[in-house]
Amino acid sequence: MTTTGKVWFVGAGPGAADLLTLRAARVIAEADVVIWAASLVHADVLAHARPDAEIVDSSQLPIEGVRPLYERAAADGLTVARIHSGDPALWGAVQEQLDLCRALGLAVEVVPGVSSFTAVAALVGRELTIPEVAQSVILTRLEGGKTPMPPGERVREFARHGTTMALFLSAARSGQAQAELLGGGYPPETPVVVAYQATWPDELVVRCTLGELEATVKAHKLWKHTLFLVGPALAATGTRSHLYHPGHFHTHRRAEPAARAALRRARADRSGVDQPGVDQPGVDPGGDGR
Ligand SMILES: C[S@@+](CC[C@H](N)C(=O)[O-])C[C@H]1O[C@@H](n2cnc3c(N)ncnc32)[C@H](O)[C@@H]1O
Repeated sequence: MTTTGKVWFVGAGPGAADLLTLRAARVIAEADVVIWAASLVHADVLAHARPDAEIVDSSQLPIEGVRPLYERAAADGLTVARIHSGDPALWGAVQEQLDLCRALGLAVEVVPGVSSFTAVAALVGRELTIPEVAQSVILTRLEGGKTPMPPGERVREFARHGTTMALFLSAARSGQAQAELLGGGYPPETPVVVAYQATWPDELVVRCTLGELEATVKAHKLWKHTLFLVGPALAATGTRSHLYHPGHFHTHRRAEPAARAALRRARADRSGVDQPGVDQPGVDPGGDGR
């Protein structure tokens, strides 16, 4: 008889157990084995597990320590929920486990989670993409840790874009982070959010400028579980997305003619040329308007 076990890689979100998705809660509730890292995932997440589920803390285990559990799941047809912090797609060391599980003949599936960078944006009540200020978000980390950075991925190079950046895994080298960000061209007055243990009971969220980053991090003695958000979008006001502008039309909404004309004039003023034709009925000039 062949038994096929399955491993779910589940995003637990940034910390607060009620930031778990409904799917994550269901998968944990159905699992025979729940593997979690006590150092990274809040224990309340385990409240969803079955009373008879086998619970394994992986904080102290290398992948070789988890492998026997996956082998047993393959042999006995067990369902495993492997819980990762935030979203498993970001610095989760998930790929090597996906490869291992597939090699063992296990079915695998990933449940996305709320990443810490969006959780921190929510805590400070900011959108990371502000029209005409920042339309890209760079997710990266500082080089110099245990993991070498691939060529072309230095923070200083990314900083040249001047857009919003989320810096993971970098708090222990805050002086280097500040120097790289300034060296890449962000002005010293660029707003920064420093967030430690966001959404955990002991969370700390501090705003400062880039010029104050190192001093702020050191003053609070932060070196782990800390994320930096950097960029002008963190303080920008006064710009407006076209999405909810009365002059913007799309598949589900007609534009108000006067507002539409004002929008076109503003666009022409900015670009120096009018854009004939974009008002053709049925044409959606801005796609989803953002
Ligand atoms: C191994 S990475 C995992 C990232 C995770 N997969 C995510 O999507 O947020 C760990 C780093 O993520 C950031 N991080 C994760 N959770 C955090 C939280 N609750 N508060 C602040 N930073 C957090 C920190 O930069 C930390 O050093």
